[in-house]
Amino acid sequence: MYVCICNAVTERHIGEAVSEGVSTLRELRTRLGVAGECGRCATCARDCLRAAMAERTTTANSARSVFAPSYSMAVEAV
Ligand code: FES
Repeated sequence: MYVCICNAVTERHIGEAVSEGVSTLRELRTRLGVAGECGRCATCARDCLRAAMAERTTTANSARSVFAPSYSMAVEAV
């Protein structure tokens, strides 16, 4: 879905920016131009940014729980 029509920015672009470290609307504006023209996309862009950050956190926590050894596993390995 297009988030910013003026700059042809989609949710996917915002997700990619988040995965590369973007965490604020200001950084998103600097990087992709979001909300830099008419500004009508600012609220939607902020919502997409938050959703992408939440998804990234959830994914990171899931990966950590799968791949990180639990304490009992660490003890067994010793
Ligand atoms: S729709 Fe994003 S600046 Fe206009």
